[in-house]
Formats: sequence, C-alpha cells, structure tokens
Amino acid sequence: MVKIAPSILSADFVNLERDIKRASSADYLHVDVMDGAFVPNLTIGVPVVESIRKCTDMFLDVHLMIDKPERYIDAFAQAGADLLSVHLEADHPTRIARALKRMEEHGVKKAVALRPITSANAVLPYIEELDLVLVMTVEPGFGGQAFMESQLDTIRQVRAIIEKYNPACELEVDGGINAKTAPLVTAAGANVLVAGSAVYGKEDVAGAIAALRAAAE
Ligand code: DX5
Ligand code: ZN
Repeated sequence: MVKIAPSILSADFVNLERDIKRASSADYLHVDVMDGAFVPNLTIGVPVVESIRKCTDMFLDVHLMIDKPERYIDAFAQAGADLLSVHLEADHPTRIARALKRMEEHGVKKAVALRPITSANAVLPYIEELDLVLVMTVEPGFGGQAFMESQLDTIRQVRAIIEKYNPACELEVDGGINAKTAPLVTAAGANVLVAGSAVYGKEDVAGAIAALRAAAE
C-alpha cells in the first residue's frame, strides 16, 4: 500500500493550519527544513515544527536539508518530529551515524536522504538500522521542479538493497511527483510519495491526494 506525504512547502503559510487539516487523508505530513547553506533556500525551522505539532496528530516526516544535521536532531525531536531524514552529503559518515544514534535515543524514526548525484550504495553503511530511505527526484531546494527520470535507476537500486538487508525499511521519493510520475516511481520500488505542488497546487487537496493514490497503485 503506497503512502502519500504532502509537502507543506507548497501550502499557504498564512493558512498553514487550514492547509494541514486539508491534507488529513494523507499518511505523512512532509516538512522541508532548509538552511540556506546545504541548499540555496531558507524555509521552516524548529519553532514552526513545534507549532505544527500542536495542530495535528499526523505523522511528521521532517526532511532536514541542512549542513551538519547532527547539531539539530535534539531540537527537532523535541519539537515533535516523528521521523527525521538527514542528507548523506551533509556531513562526514561518522557524524551521520551519530545523528542516527541521537534519533534512536529520542525514539524518532531514522532516515537518510540522497541527492540525485549520490549513488544508491551510499546507504549501505546504515541500511540495517534505517526506517526509511529518501531518494530525491529533483535537486533539493525548491518545490515545483521537473521529475528527474534518471533517478528511476537509483530507486530500483535502493529497493534491491532494502530487500536484501532490511525489507521493513520504507523507500520515499521526493520531487516532481504527480499523477504521471507516481506510477513510474512505484513500479521502480518506492512506497512513500512526497508531493508538494501536485497536492497544494489543486483547489481540492483531498481529491489530489486520492488521485495520487489511485495513480500510484
Ligand atoms: C524539494 C523538497 C520537496 C518539495 C517537493 O527540495 O524536498 O519536498 O516540496 O515539491 P514538488 O512536489 O512540488 O516537487
Ligand atoms: Zn522534501
């Protein structure tokens, strides 16, 4: 069963609570944290995650696009994240491992994220302890970009690694997911689909979530 994770990056920030509630039929709520260094954009920080936690019981999937993410694991865990993903390109492997350990200590689900340039094998040192691998299907930084078809290979390779070492691990994709690309990524092995503009770009948010689900099955 495919899971849908609307990205609030494309929501109306003036009406964030309303837009979060509109997405309540989804499985996860995807929160994009950007630091203006790891990616050239600045978005949501700890206080906003704290406020989101107060207005929804949805599973908060917090995507950290920040340098040296180990520094912020405690803060985002305490703010109420259910899952944190750290980019493998954002720090030295020993500090990525430490970031995962911190998540474990907080009882937060653990994920690593891969930029399009990063090969599937980069997950190997961590795979057995992960709850989710996030494969980017655009260059991280902005919503509304075109899906990179070349990432289908990476999705297939990560799926093969997951089947071999940790079949319970989820495989999430993020970037350019819509009713056209959803069947491609699920056929390649993804089971969690992040979608920003394909959900919040529509008047009928619940309808957009249902349409994505139908397209993905
Ligand atoms: C991009 C973010 C995505 C973004 C996806 O760096 O990680 O989560 O919101 O937006 P769409 O679905 O519009 O590509
Ligand atoms: Zn994201």
